[in-house]
Amino acid sequence: MSAPKPHAVSTKLAQAGHYIDPATGAIVPPLHSAATFARDKNYELIGDFIYSRTQNPTGNEVEKLLTELEGGGEALLFASGLAAAAALFETVEAGKQILVPEVIYYGTLSWLRRISERRGIELGSYDPGEPDSLPRAIIPGKLDIVWIETPVNPTWDVIDIQAAADVVHEAGAILAVDSTVAPPVTTRPLALGADIVAHSATKYLNGHSDLTGGVLVTNRIDDRWKDIRYIREHAGGVLGAFESWLLLRGLRTLAIRYERCSESALRIARHFEHHPAIEAVLYPGLDSHPGHEIARRQMTNGFGGMLSILVQGGTQEALTVATGLELIIRATSLGGVESLVEHRASVEGPQSKVAPNLLRFSIGIEDPEDLIQDIEQALNSL
Ligand SMILES: Cc1ncc(COP(=O)(O)O)c(C=O)c1O
Repeated sequence: MSAPKPHAVSTKLAQAGHYIDPATGAIVPPLHSAATFARDKNYELIGDFIYSRTQNPTGNEVEKLLTELEGGGEALLFASGLAAAAALFETVEAGKQILVPEVIYYGTLSWLRRISERRGIELGSYDPGEPDSLPRAIIPGKLDIVWIETPVNPTWDVIDIQAAADVVHEAGAILAVDSTVAPPVTTRPLALGADIVAHSATKYLNGHSDLTGGVLVTNRIDDRWKDIRYIREHAGGVLGAFESWLLLRGLRTLAIRYERCSESALRIARHFEHHPAIEAVLYPGLDSHPGHEIARRQMTNGFGGMLSILVQGGTQEALTVATGLELIIRATSLGGVESLVEHRASVEGPQSKVAPNLLRFSIGIEDPEDLIQDIEQALNSL
């Protein structure tokens, strides 16, 4: 008889890794709020834990599940997506190079600019739309990390992970992929050649806009990874027990949430693609999107709920639409069950490279017709 095929990601998620508490039979992991863990009369630790800044049993359950979902060797949870990214960047020594695409999440870029200036790190960028620009941007012998994000916030351009990994490995560096917008239900960057995958767990992984968290997952426990463990412990950026517990609860419904968000976003993108008040709809699920072919290859189970529209006009017109929305909430963040809109240029300030007429939508799990109606009426106020 042939071996049973491994369970689907959605099955693993729904059962939080088939969790059954060995002591009680409970099917939900307990929330271990303890900051510290006791030793016995021989001064031996009673369990595997010392202190919650190092690791916590509730966080460990989430890390085990995320390791399995990403097909990695180990996951580490952090207090936010940026804390996870910062721990990785902390491993880069002075004189080395970090390369990023021209457009990435503004918060990551802002942090990279600061640390590169202060620590003597070369920060370079390349245009992922132009295949030769990555090898051209590499400073031979200096490149340490290429950090990409796909789809890219907030233009939702798609980057070919496998192609980037080949170039980066050829240069003797590592590829880290911020896959916040493409969680492991749809993309598994490690299987495509990435060395480290990062997420803001604040977004799709949790999905309920009620915690901030981040995670790094690797497939190789090498010296850099051990350093990241050390940095998390000693810089204190670990995720708290309560947030870990909430995150595990959120993860149980990730597959079904992502499916719904993806279906609705595609429907909305198609509905507004040729609207007279809209210059363009940016969504990787549209056939017309320049990265659609790559997205089809590497987003195997939905294109997600993130889309942006370029309103005809500029800042004023975009803000008129944003403020005209009655149902979709004006707030930052993404990947939650509720739909949000954001005018990124206003939030990022004068340094922003985001088009002034761009509105970013995070499509949630509401009835898509209600969302379409809301956007339609807001466009009518132009
Ligand atoms: C793609 C991406 N990566 C990372 C982050 C940072 O995550 P956090 O806010 O959890 O620090 C964000 C936040 O919006 C994001 O959109």
